Amino acid sequence: MVTGTVGLRGRSLTCIRDLSIPELAQVLATAASLKRRWRAGDRPRLLPGRVLALLLEKPSLRTRVSFEVAMRQLGGDAVSLLPQEIGLGERESVVDVARVLSRYVDAIVLRTFAHQSVTDMAAQASVPVINGLSDRSHPCQALADLLTIAEHRGRLRGVRVAFVGDGGNNVAHALLLAAAKSGLHLRIACPPGYEPLPDMLASARADAARTGAELDVVYDPAAAVEGADVVYTDVWTSMGQEAEQHLRRAVFATYRVDAPLVARAMPDAIVMHDLPAHRGEEITDDVLDGPRSVVYDQAENRLHAQKAVLVHLLADSVLG
Ligand code: CP
Ligand code: NVA
Repeated sequence: MVTGTVGLRGRSLTCIRDLSIPELAQVLATAASLKRRWRAGDRPRLLPGRVLALLLEKPSLRTRVSFEVAMRQLGGDAVSLLPQEIGLGERESVVDVARVLSRYVDAIVLRTFAHQSVTDMAAQASVPVINGLSDRSHPCQALADLLTIAEHRGRLRGVRVAFVGDGGNNVAHALLLAAAKSGLHLRIACPPGYEPLPDMLASARADAARTGAELDVVYDPAAAVEGADVVYTDVWTSMGQEAEQHLRRAVFATYRVDAPLVARAMPDAIVMHDLPAHRGEEITDDVLDGPRSVVYDQAENRLHAQKAVLVHLLADSVLG
């Protein structure tokens, strides 16, 4: 049984912080259930006639396609607007885009630069707004990440995850907050100056005190990966930071996830990357394509996790 009644209906998902500890667990349970049912040939059309708008100010493969496919598989539809078509804050204000789209669609996914645009859109829209990646957070990615870890490790609580790379980027922040709410043991290894934002760490530590999650930020990638069950990395240069690419390549050079680094993890450790990867930069081909890599399971899980989010935000009530 999948239920859509955990109090999320009509709300926005701008950040993992928008979900309480039990709400996060419920969304993950729904995602696992929808995935199981889909694979068994049970394809409930839980969102008939509902339409989702995706506003994408940055490129996307996974986010765009998985949200569009999720809506169609659930009996609804989606319309995507690409960077040149929106002009958010230039052709038209965030306020007006939010208010107009609220008259046409049932929910909005926004992929943008400044996180403030996501919170402004959520404040002005009368339909749920889902953060499809901002400079500060990527909550849909973190939900898919937790689903993937739970599938491969059989649980979340106490699983030791090492994130090696930019501790202050959107993927690291979302993972940090989600880890804290689900009892993971997360070590982030990043260069000095690339730590998570202090307010993100403070939120995560508050949740960790309740769930038993252990959260550490270290500077030595080898120490972070030692004994880990999961080794996770993301690009050194995120979208919008291209002017810093040269500098970042130098700063992060010793944070590459390669075979010697992964050898420090548990023998059955899995390797994760949200993709797209800059192959040969933050991760080597042999690791990304190797037997421990679960990156395509992780990419697939964007679909199942987002279906769960859409069902909880938009579906009427208990779903059979
Ligand atoms: N991981 C992720 O969000 O991929 P896209 O940028 O392709 O959407
Ligand atoms: N940190 C990356 C994630 C891409 C999905 C970026 O923002 O470009």
